[in-house]
Amino acid sequence: MDTPKKVGLARGLTNYGDADFSLYLRRTFAKAAGYSNEMASRPVVGIAQSASGFNPCHRNFPELVDAIKRGVLAAGGLPLDFPTISLGETFLNPTSMKFRNLMSMDIEEMIRAQPMDSVVLLGGCDKSVPAQLMGAASADIPAIQLVCGPMLPMPYQGERLGACTDCRRFWGKFRAGEISNEAINEVEGKLAATAGTCGVMGTASTMASIAEAIGMSLPGTAAIPAVHSDRLRAAEASGRRAVELALNPILPSQIITEKSVENALRILLAIGGSTNALIHLTAIAGRLGIKVSLKRLNELSDTTPVLVDLKPTGQHYMSDLHAAGGLGAVLRELAPLLHLDCITVSGETLGERLTGEATWVDRAVVRSFDDPINAQGGLASLFGSLAPNGAIIKRSAADPKLFERTGRAVVFSSLADLAERIDSPDLDVTADDFMVLQNAGPRSASGMPEAGYLPIPLKLAKAGVKDMVRISDARMSGTAYGTIVLHVSPEAAIGGPLSLVRNGDMIRISVSERRLDLLVDESDLAQRRLVTPPSAVVPKRGYGRLYAQSTLQAEDGCDFDFLRE
Ligand code: FES
Repeated sequence: MDTPKKVGLARGLTNYGDADFSLYLRRTFAKAAGYSNEMASRPVVGIAQSASGFNPCHRNFPELVDAIKRGVLAAGGLPLDFPTISLGETFLNPTSMKFRNLMSMDIEEMIRAQPMDSVVLLGGCDKSVPAQLMGAASADIPAIQLVCGPMLPMPYQGERLGACTDCRRFWGKFRAGEISNEAINEVEGKLAATAGTCGVMGTASTMASIAEAIGMSLPGTAAIPAVHSDRLRAAEASGRRAVELALNPILPSQIITEKSVENALRILLAIGGSTNALIHLTAIAGRLGIKVSLKRLNELSDTTPVLVDLKPTGQHYMSDLHAAGGLGAVLRELAPLLHLDCITVSGETLGERLTGEATWVDRAVVRSFDDPINAQGGLASLFGSLAPNGAIIKRSAADPKLFERTGRAVVFSSLADLAERIDSPDLDVTADDFMVLQNAGPRSASGMPEAGYLPIPLKLAKAGVKDMVRISDARMSGTAYGTIVLHVSPEAAIGGPLSLVRNGDMIRISVSERRLDLLVDESDLAQRRLVTPPSAVVPKRGYGRLYAQSTLQAEDGCDFDFLRE
C-alpha cells in the first residue's frame, strides 16, 4: 500500500528516528504560533517575501502580504510568510547582480526545507524576480509570482518624470551644464516618488512582463501600479490560486518549457525590454535544462515587431501600459507568433487566457501588429573576433546612424580607469571613436555592474554629443539608452579578446550583419596575449570565492555552474 502523501505542516518532518514524535513536536510549535488544530491541518502556502529597509521598491510589501494571506485563508489554506534576501538595486555594492544567484539559492533551499505545499513569490526590484523564479524552478513545487508593481510617474514642469530613464536624461543635462544645481535637486525628489519598481520598461518591468508571459504570474498582473488597489486584489487572487495549486499542483517545470521560454523571448523583444532580462531568462530556463541561444534570439528578433511605446525607447510609463490594456494587449497582438498551448499558473493555456480577455487597447501605448513601432525586435546579438561567444545591442534604444561603422578604440582598462580619465580634458577622444571598457564582466572584481552605459566624455557632452558607440563586457540598466554593445563574451577578466584591445585599434560594428570585429592581425593579438594575463582573481574565502569559481558567462545566464540542470 502506498504511504499517504504528507501535506501541510506534516511535510518534510525533521528526522529524529521517530516520525510520530517529529509530527507531535511540529504540532507543539504550531501551537506556539497560536494555530488551532484546524488551521494547522490546512495546506500550507509559503509567502517568500523580500521586504527590507534597504529596498524602497518593496515598501508596499506589508499590505501585499496581508492581501495574499487574506486570499489564502479564504480558500482554506494556512499562509506562512518567510523572509529571504532582498536585492535593492541601488543599495548593493559592487552590484546586485553578484547576489542574484545567492538569493536564488536562499529561495530554493527555504522552499525545500520548510513545509509548504505551494509558494507565492513576492518580488519586484530588478534581480529579485529572476532569483525567485530560478529558485522556484529548481525546487519545483507549485509557485506563483507576484510583483510589487511599478511606481507612478510624477509631474514636473509640464512633463512627467520616472525612474530611471529620466534620471539619466536629467543627469546628462546637468553634466552638460544645461541645468542648475537647484534644478537637479528638485528633479531628484520627483524621480522615484512612490512605492514600487522603476516605472519605465527597465529590468524590473521587463521581468514582471516575462513572468506573466511565461505563465508564472496571474493574467493581467504585470503592469498594475504598486499603489493601485488592483494590486491588492491581484495579491488576494494570487493567494487564493496558490491554495488551488497546493491541492491540484501545476509545477514550474510544466510551465517553464522550451515553448514558453520562446514566448517570453518574443515578449522581451516586442516590449523593447531590458538587456538584463535576457541574462535572467537564460538563467531561469537553464535551471530546467532549456538553452537560450543567441543565434535563435536573432531569428526571433527579425520576426518580432516592437509594439510597446514605453521609455526608455518610447514615451510612456508602466502605469500607462496598465491603463492601455496591460500585457494581455501585447500578447493578443503577438498571438500568431506565440505557442498558445503553453499551460499557465492559472490552469488555463495561454490561448484560453487570451480568448477570454477584454479587447480595448490604447493604441498610443500598445501598437497593433500591422502598425508596429519597429518591424524588428529591440535586441540583437553580435558575433565576431571581438565577441566569439556573442554580445548584445539594444538596437531599439540606439542610434541607427551608428550601426554600420568602423571606429578607433579608446580603451579604459577598468571602472577605476574610466572614472579617473573620462572627463579629463586631455583624453584623446572624438565623437567618431568607439569607447571600450574592459574588466567589467561577470568574473571581474566588479561583478558585471550596469556600467556599460559609459558616460559621454565631458568635453564631448558639452559640445553637444549625445551618443557614441560603447563596447564592454558589463551590463546596462534597463532604463538606459544609447548605441551600447554589452555582455561581450568571453569577458576580459578571463582573457577574452576584449582584454587585448589597445588604444587606436580599429573595431568594426555591423548590426545588419550581426558582426563585431577587432581589426587587428592574429599575430599581433598572439603577442598581446603573452603579456596580458587574465585579471580575474579568486578570493580566499566566503561567497566571493564561490562566486569567482562558479559564475558562468553571459550566454549561460551568469548562473553558477553547479545550479544548472
Ligand atoms: Fe528597484 Fe529600479 S531600483 S526597480
